[in-house]
Amino acid sequence: MTKPFIYPPVPSRKQTIEQAPIEQAPIEQAPIEQAPIEQAPVEEVVTVYDSAFKCPSCHNRLQTSTPEGAKSYRCSNNHNFDMAKKGYLNLLLAQHKRSRNPGDSDEMIRSRQRFLNGGYYQTLADAIVKQVRLGADNQRVLDIGCGEGYYMDQLRQGSETLQLTGIDISKTAVRLAAKRKMDAQLAVDSAYSMPLHSDSIDCAISVFSPVSAKETARVLVPGGSLIMVGPGEEHLSGLTAHIYSNRVPHQGNNLDDNLGDFILQETLEIKDSITITGPDILDLLKMTPYYWHARAEQQELVANLKTLETVIHFMIKIYKIK
Ligand SMILES: C[S@@+](CC[C@H](N)C(=O)[O-])C[C@H]1O[C@@H](n2cnc3c(N)ncnc32)[C@H](O)[C@@H]1O
Ligand SMILES: [Zn+2]
Repeated sequence: MTKPFIYPPVPSRKQTIEQAPIEQAPIEQAPIEQAPIEQAPVEEVVTVYDSAFKCPSCHNRLQTSTPEGAKSYRCSNNHNFDMAKKGYLNLLLAQHKRSRNPGDSDEMIRSRQRFLNGGYYQTLADAIVKQVRLGADNQRVLDIGCGEGYYMDQLRQGSETLQLTGIDISKTAVRLAAKRKMDAQLAVDSAYSMPLHSDSIDCAISVFSPVSAKETARVLVPGGSLIMVGPGEEHLSGLTAHIYSNRVPHQGNNLDDNLGDFILQETLEIKDSITITGPDILDLLKMTPYYWHARAEQQELVANLKTLETVIHFMIKIYKIK
């Protein structure tokens, strides 16, 4: 009978040494052939929002990166225009300015704002709104020489969907227009070189403001319209009676009836009599060139009137562009 093997034999030193390093075959890992993960280059998606305006330097479109409350606008050539705090762009380049403060004086503009806010020309405002609203609800409307924005504001009150743009060469006027918060794109620039793309406006209006037929024709779409308001012959005759001894019929500032590509469609006449009271009388005088034609004593006389009755007389000419 064989004895059971109880103790394993103590390994000899030699054995120990020989056995110690257990040589493990290096684990050869088959090279895992992984297809290189193709990562699409991370492209930054930048959404830009178009403004109605073009860059006055290179004429490319001005864009911004936020849909609302944009602080600045930039063209693809990196010309940058900061939005004024009040919410308008000054696109009138210094080299295009003929004077330090072009356009109507600040005093004239503030007087006009107070007077118009008194509602004395409401019949005219209603007629303009009615004419514009004959077009599409969301049409692009441009007010050329918009002043402090009274008529744009009336348009906005008449319709939430019109796309309103206004320009005026006076910074004070545009700043006051922006304060009206009427959801309009506003810029300081000239009617003779408008910061707008060709064929980008459906309907232009001009109320007692200078207009360039050529430049207006450029920005209007084919078939677009121009509504021009100028004075009728008897406009403010009750006021001028205090200044001129001979009656001077008002000279209109209208385009010739058929000028270039514009075809006169219709002329509307508004004639009414209004009574102006208190400080509004001096504001009326100050918002017109009559103020500068009046002698100091005539200015004082008008300023001291309690009431003033006068005819208001407007001619509204509606043109279509071929
Ligand atoms: C008599 S105001 C009329 C303003 C406004 N349309 C209204 O009826 O209340 C004339 C306006 O034309 C602006 N104006 C004068 N020359 C201009 C020009 N070259 N380009 C743009 N606006 C101009 C003046 O600054 C002024 O606001
Ligand atoms: Zn540019």
